[in-house]
Amino acid sequence: MPPEPPSLSLMLGMMRLHERPELQAPERLADWIEARLDQGLEWFDHADIYGGEGLNEHLFGKALHRRPSLARRVRVVTKAGIRMNRGDIKHYDSSPDWLTGAIDRALSRLGTERLDVFLIHRPDPLMEAETTARVLDDAVRDGKIAALGVSNFLPDQWRRLQSALSSPLRHHQLQLSLNHSSPLFDGHFDALRQDGLSPMAWSPLGGGALFEGQAGRLLENIAAHHGVSPAGVALAWLRRLPGSPMPVIGTLDPTRITTLHDEAWLSLSRQEWYALLEAARGHEMA
Ligand SMILES: NC(=O)c1ccc[n+]([C@@H]2O[C@H](COP(=O)([O-])OP(=O)(O)OC[C@H]3O[C@@H](n4cnc5c(N)ncnc54)[C@H](OP(=O)(O)O)[C@@H]3O)[C@@H](O)[C@H]2O)c1
Repeated sequence: MPPEPPSLSLMLGMMRLHERPELQAPERLADWIEARLDQGLEWFDHADIYGGEGLNEHLFGKALHRRPSLARRVRVVTKAGIRMNRGDIKHYDSSPDWLTGAIDRALSRLGTERLDVFLIHRPDPLMEAETTARVLDDAVRDGKIAALGVSNFLPDQWRRLQSALSSPLRHHQLQLSLNHSSPLFDGHFDALRQDGLSPMAWSPLGGGALFEGQAGRLLENIAAHHGVSPAGVALAWLRRLPGSPMPVIGTLDPTRITTLHDEAWLSLSRQEWYALLEAARGHEMA
């Protein structure tokens, strides 16, 4: 069985890795990864486009190569299917040729034998589900991928793909936070629960924008009441949802990560949860 992300944990997003000069050297990044693993944080979220042309996967792989003991401990999610090649128009590509190469390139850059989770990054209207599914099933059968999923798909889009796949889709990575709560009201979140997909919530702090305005002020008040940080309250708001979505956080700051990890215990009341929703949406419930 593929490893399941523990529900009270965090996933560490690697989208901003190339922006941190202190983490570019393999030895320093290996220290950083080891410290996260020692804290009990073992899930790392990548994509081939992070940093541009595989750079962040490559940096991560070099750190694992420098300290091979870490490779056995990390759990890696990666995604492919967005193409931003120099000189080309940005586009999506879930064709068999592109995905076959993308899976092999990710394995090579990360230096791991297997991707714990592989996600198609965005739904490609030109995808032929049968041929794409064959590539994904083959990669699972060959041991290159432990578990499959999608990101930013609508329910009919992942169901179309699933209907052609032998392997189950297990994960869906979606934008979900206090300031992006529409999946809770348009049936999207219920559909993934119904179909047995485990939710990973990207940008759970709205990329940092959550701390502004009315919602930011309420986060601060509730945080002060519980003796935690506003960011901890924002993650507690997500975790209060059925299935406890796994937040994919973006900070690489060890102090901020530790704070968020330490505040995993916080449980919000129904009153607090709805008050935050109202503040973030700017109107009361109908
Ligand atoms: N599947 C997809 O389509 C998709 C799309 C976007 C992102 N993602 C994934 O989601 C991950 C997270 O995205 P994100 O970076 O937008 O997530 P986020 O956790 O919502 O935002 C992180 C940003 O918030 C800032 N921040 C401000 N105050 C903070 C605090 N108290 N604690 C923590 N962070 C604070 C961070 O600044 P500092 O960095 O200065 O700490 C950072 O710039 C990415 O790394 C990527 O793996 C997936």
